Amino acid sequence: MHSDDANQGTVDKRTPLIAGNWKMYLAPTRARAFAIELRTRLNDVRDREVAVFPPFVSIPAVAEELERTPIRIGGQDLYWQNEGAYTGAVSASFLADAGCSYVLVGHSERRTVFGDDDQAVGRKFQAARAAGLVPVLCCGESLAEREAGRTADVVRAQVETALAGCPADADFVLAYEPVWAIGTGRTATPAQAAEVHALLRDWLKTRFSAAVAARTRILYGGSVKADNVDELMAQDGVDGVLVGGASLKADSFERIVRFRTG
Ligand code: PGA
Repeated sequence: MHSDDANQGTVDKRTPLIAGNWKMYLAPTRARAFAIELRTRLNDVRDREVAVFPPFVSIPAVAEELERTPIRIGGQDLYWQNEGAYTGAVSASFLADAGCSYVLVGHSERRTVFGDDDQAVGRKFQAARAAGLVPVLCCGESLAEREAGRTADVVRAQVETALAGCPADADFVLAYEPVWAIGTGRTATPAQAAEVHALLRDWLKTRFSAAVAARTRILYGGSVKADNVDELMAQDGVDGVLVGGASLKADSFERIVRFRTG
């Protein structure tokens, strides 16, 4: 969106992104009704971006209802091959054809439940970009890793492997999601989130450039709710949130989208 020149000397020009990860909830019939409700509630939102990530089979219904609205749609995962004999898989180009702009890559549930390792995450990241989708690359440490003081190393290693070979003009989003905070009701403190966001932004600067670091959005995820979103979004360098449980209720998701800082 911005040229490198336009970013020289500017900071925090990033449009906040509020993303709802529906996980394995909201089958097509309910997803359609929910999309209609979101469309009605959020039709005046302009200064922030909203995206929802329905289960694969619900994407067509949601895409139909959100057409001609600013609410974007993303897939929760993809397979890196474009097409072929890969039973059960969905490719990035299929998601794009179904109306997606985004796709989650490397969500911790994909890593722990379905065995995606950093190499698989990297292939998915590349395939997403090749199909014109914006990957939302998730990273985050387990509780044991945090307690062992390994958070910075773990998170850096995850993004480094996934972004190997990624060019500087790539459009992508990072999401810091500490595994111990996902679905547990235990949110990272705003200071903990800000610390990891800062190290990720430093890493972007070293790996790519100051311009890439300045324009790339870094989301926080893990038990984000209506009553903690304001303080998280008030942190320097927190450019949005990736919300699971609290994105499944229209009133709490609306309140999260309408976060207030200051
Ligand atoms: P949660 O999930 O908000 O329910 O903790 C976040 C996520 O998994 O993206």
